[in-house]
Amino acid sequence: MKLYAEEKQPQSKFSSLYHEQATFFDSQAEVAWANVRYGREYASKLERLAWHCGPLAGRTVLEPGCGTGRLTEWLACAVGPTGFVHACDISLRMARKAMRRTHDYAHARVSHTAMENLNLGKGSVDLVVCHQVFPHFKDKPVALGYMAHVLRPDGALLIVHFESRRVINDVHRKAGTVVMDDLLPNRGQIEALLNAAGLQIRHYSDDPGLGYLLKACPVIRRLSGGRVW
Ligand SMILES: C[S@@+](CC[C@H](N)C(=O)[O-])C[C@H]1O[C@@H](n2cnc3c(N)ncnc32)[C@H](O)[C@@H]1O
Repeated sequence: MKLYAEEKQPQSKFSSLYHEQATFFDSQAEVAWANVRYGREYASKLERLAWHCGPLAGRTVLEPGCGTGRLTEWLACAVGPTGFVHACDISLRMARKAMRRTHDYAHARVSHTAMENLNLGKGSVDLVVCHQVFPHFKDKPVALGYMAHVLRPDGALLIVHFESRRVINDVHRKAGTVVMDDLLPNRGQIEALLNAAGLQIRHYSDDPGLGYLLKACPVIRRLSGGRVW
């Protein structure tokens, strides 16, 4: 079993940018919130996520901030052996747990790295699933630029939380830790960030019961001759 550390440069700016946050999430790797399995009480939230993912068999998925791999396992199962899941986390302890949880899936790879440092090719990913990680990206335009770069033109980005935006931001603000400024932007702000990265919102819901879910897709540009690129 191998945990991949595939940072582009060993001491890249992302390693130092995330140093404090990685230490914090290392300290959370054994805590209940990070480990609780997605059992029956999460069925409706997972069903909504599955619906927005669309058919997953054979797809290539990127899951940044995989934590202990709760969703990685679910994704690996859904894409099946003809698909692939690239998961990563800045926290070594989280990444190790995710690797152990998914060790039966040869088509899932967990890397100990910031997503922004992954060496994935342009247009190599069908779906990016940011599950409870988007507020933690230190430079959101850079993170969105990376995700837009790796997405296929017909791919999609999902930003999903199993709580509403109000609850998430409240929890972070009141935490009094390094995550206290890690907030989920409001709709106008996130739409502007997505558009700047060449992505367009296709679905937005912020539900007190089901939580937050945003789906965005690459903007399809038409040249004057009608050709799509
Ligand atoms: C709130 S936890 C969510 C973990 C997991 N997605 C879940 O829902 O159980 C956020 C995770 O994202 C990781 N993280 C934050 N920024 C990251 C980045 N730029 N690249 C990769 N992982 C990141 C943290 O280390 C942490 O494990």
